[in-house]
Amino acid sequence: MSKVTVVGAGNVGATCANVLAFNEVADQVVMLDVKEGVSEGKAMDMMQCAQLLGFDTNLVGCTNDYAQTADSDVVVITSGIPRKPGMTREELIGVNAGIVKSVAENLLKYSPNAIIVVVSNPMDTMTYLALKSLGVPKNRIIGMGGALDSSRFKYFLSQELGCNANEVEGMVIGGHGDTTMIPLTRYATYKGMPVSNFLSADKLQEISAATMVGGATLTKLLGTSAWYAPGAASAFVVESILHDQKKMVPCSVSLEGEYGQQDICIGVPVILGKNGIEKIVEIELNDEERALFEASAKAVRATNAALTEVGAL
Ligand code: LAC
Repeated sequence: MSKVTVVGAGNVGATCANVLAFNEVADQVVMLDVKEGVSEGKAMDMMQCAQLLGFDTNLVGCTNDYAQTADSDVVVITSGIPRKPGMTREELIGVNAGIVKSVAENLLKYSPNAIIVVVSNPMDTMTYLALKSLGVPKNRIIGMGGALDSSRFKYFLSQELGCNANEVEGMVIGGHGDTTMIPLTRYATYKGMPVSNFLSADKLQEISAATMVGGATLTKLLGTSAWYAPGAASAFVVESILHDQKKMVPCSVSLEGEYGQQDICIGVPVILGKNGIEKIVEIELNDEERALFEASAKAVRATNAALTEVGAL
């Protein structure tokens, strides 16, 4: 039996659980939240869709009862406060660091072998905190950001190309921040052809900029941070792991010399399978991309330094 726990039944966590259940990614999905009744209610609401949509996943909700999460194969941590308009993801660190650390520790008590998918922001720093504080092998700690940012990149490309988003390929590497993301325009394709065959350099620059502030744009429109694509991107990462799909997905992972970096978690393409990170894929970056990656790593490191200031590490 495959089992996934999603901690945090807010918008992102509930959407993730919803996608996992509706797509029958796991046999059992447990949603856990600190707010009394919220995950129980959302789970019941979703389970009342089972016969309408014809899915068999067993979805349950609980309030802070970690025993119910026992023996999960994958755990997804979405807990913490989301951004308000005008806030950066980095500003959330003080509150979210304490939450993420205690949630992860509780999860590991009941699922010591689980693969941990980190969604809470600032995502790269929360992934690094999990890596440094939990003593779990690095292949089992995965930050979700690049899956989401790449999906947004492909959306913006498809809008400009006037095409089906499923015919576009592309990746965003670097940090999951408004100024640290690196959409890899040079490698993006439409039906296997470079997007530069169809779009001008200026247009590609605009798409890149729209991708980088993709989350902030939605936060402004919605009054809180987005959830449909963040939830679906989290479920996408879980599925590639649980079903051993070996998909290449940009994720925030611990680097030990790859891309010239160490002691950091940042977005790079990885192969996701039953062991979590099966492989880090080192793609060739040109001078400009390498300089952007170095600047991104520097910014992520500066945010990581705040972990010590808030006493989380
Ligand atoms: C976003 C948040 C979830 O990018 O980081 O929408």
